[in-house]
Amino acid sequence: MSTDVIELILTDHRRFEDLFRQLRDSSNDRRKVLAELAEILVAHAEAEEAEVYPALRRFDGVDDHEVEHGAEEHAEGHVALLDLMELGDPEAEGWDDKLEKLVKAINHHVDEEERTILDPARDAVSADRRAELGDRFVAARAQRVDSACGDISHVRDLVAQTKDRID
Ligand SMILES: [Fe+2]
Ligand SMILES: [Fe+2]
Repeated sequence: MSTDVIELILTDHRRFEDLFRQLRDSSNDRRKVLAELAEILVAHAEAEEAEVYPALRRFDGVDDHEVEHGAEEHAEGHVALLDLMELGDPEAEGWDDKLEKLVKAINHHVDEEERTILDPARDAVSADRRAELGDRFVAARAQRVDSACGDISHVRDLVAQTKDRID
């Protein structure tokens, strides 16, 4: 059964928040939680950019500049993610600071995406089209997960490819 793309994206955003809470708790296996976060974060952003953002830009009522800005914020998020992943050991000095930088970058993006892209899309895009985009988003996200998109080597490539988006 198809699901509204907006609901799917919001569900992922709440999952990010849950994983941030787990990452702040040193009694958890934070390496494992970070690997899980990296996978879902990268798959989510890449699926949005491949299937959702280009489609939403075609609708009046969704601001193209906000969509472009969303992709810039993905690039910023990937830089903060890589910074934390490169540190490796959750006990290392600076880990907590880098985690908070990542949390701040992602929370900022999620808040802005929800207000400036998804809320307008709810009015501008029909329920049928949102369901169709939901199918495409799920397929693209699964395909990214299958190709190990959360591996540090991929995150390094991604940062190298998209750093020119950040000014
Ligand atoms: Fe998102
Ligand atoms: Fe996003």
